[in-house]
Amino acid sequence: MPKPKTIKHVALLFAMQDEALPLIRRLELADKGYLSPPMPMRWYDGAVGRLRVDVIVMGADRRFGIDCIGTQPAAVATQLVLDKLDPDLLINAGTCGGFIKRGGTIGKVYLTGGPFYFHDRRIPLPPFEKYADGGWQLCDVEEWCGALGLEQGAVSSGNSLDMNDDDASRIEAVATVAKDMEAAAIAWVADQHDKPLCAVKAVTDLVDGEHPTHEEFERHLHTASDALSDTLVQFLNHLNEPTP
Ligand code: ADE
Repeated sequence: MPKPKTIKHVALLFAMQDEALPLIRRLELADKGYLSPPMPMRWYDGAVGRLRVDVIVMGADRRFGIDCIGTQPAAVATQLVLDKLDPDLLINAGTCGGFIKRGGTIGKVYLTGGPFYFHDRRIPLPPFEKYADGGWQLCDVEEWCGALGLEQGAVSSGNSLDMNDDDASRIEAVATVAKDMEAAAIAWVADQHDKPLCAVKAVTDLVDGEHPTHEEFERHLHTASDALSDTLVQFLNHLNEPTP
């Protein structure tokens, strides 16, 4: 899918409050409350110059009281955003696992339009295999990456912070640079609507490194979220510049 020609309005989807707060504070976004009660997604809005910016955070699970990470809240949130806000471009912003063998480092930020894959949907029935894996390419980000000095690459999503051997071989088969828990779910909804989607993902942990993922994730969440917010501000400023 090509880069959208005119972008006057973007919506950013974050899974975790801690990932989103640095950007919400820097842009002084207004807290608009719940996007669609009784669902837990929170809505913030504001602007960068002439660019309207909506931020959606998945919110707290009503039973467990923690951030709604993972694919199903992400898909529901995307549908609600498209119904209620209809932005020109969706941006999935958040953290990810990176890969040393692909140049990943803690705090590195990727900007990518796909491909967005799932690595934990195993359906060995021939017509369903491609559907299970996904592989959506939903935005041409070449010019933006060039202007901002960012790298792109494949994102692979699943509902676990760790991975089993089968997940690992699927992740490897598509040369994944960012392992996350939302992007492919958002991509599926975006694709049904023919809506462009890109992802901006900051590395909290190195999947092929020596440290346990959950420990690295907790240690680097705030550093990575600050790096994410720096890059998002640059990206939003770039989108706000008039195109030649
Ligand atoms: N988010 C941050 N690190 C991650 C990882 N290793 N896997 C999935 N989602 C993540």
